[in-house]
Amino acid sequence: MRIDIITCVPNLLDSFFAHSILKRAQQGGFVEVILHDIRDYSINKHRTIDDYAFGGGAGMVLQIEPIARCIRALQAERNYDEIIYLTPDGELMQQKMVNQLSLKGNLIMLCGHYKGVDQRVRDLFITKEISIGDYVLSGGELAAAVLSDAIIRLLPGVLNDETSALTDSFQDNLLAPPVYSRPADFEGNLVPDILMSGHEAKVEEWRYEQSVKRTRERRPDLLR
Ligand code: 6GU
Repeated sequence: MRIDIITCVPNLLDSFFAHSILKRAQQGGFVEVILHDIRDYSINKHRTIDDYAFGGGAGMVLQIEPIARCIRALQAERNYDEIIYLTPDGELMQQKMVNQLSLKGNLIMLCGHYKGVDQRVRDLFITKEISIGDYVLSGGELAAAVLSDAIIRLLPGVLNDETSALTDSFQDNLLAPPVYSRPADFEGNLVPDILMSGHEAKVEEWRYEQSVKRTRERRPDLLR
């Protein structure tokens, strides 16, 4: 998979992708993440990328020309399965959507800023608009990081234990069960006996019950 992220603050994302699982995923050749600075595609020497909104009102708008030039330069090299705009008025990000995107080959993610991008960018280029939740961030970069992380960890080979993504919270509309590690006794707080029993089927049954219990208590909406 290849993910091209278009942003006016690439530095914000540099270190995010340079660490941990995301770094390993790239080193292992499972994904290529390339950051593009919108300013590099500005049409003037001042590297302008935004301007006042027609009709007035507060806030600058990301202009269409630099973004169009960037997207077209990428499209000239390869076909893209989706051109995603991260925006608080997009479709709410859910695990199902992430699963579907993880099956794609090439993705573009455009990060908005200020008051947003010129509507014509959305009309002409964007194939999917995604929000990561009902709150407003100052830019789409964190949302692109969240979405990329959720996608990349699903790519075959990225996680050490291939089954672990399948047992994530939300994959079956159930929250994940509690987990424990050593020590078995922390200041009198014990690990549940069943987990120490070595009885695999009983452990699985217990985990399932705990998942259902947790989901009923915390996210009853998921059970419906
Ligand atoms: Cl994708 N962008 C911004 N700026 N704020 C958000 C968001 C995206 N998703 C939730 N809040």
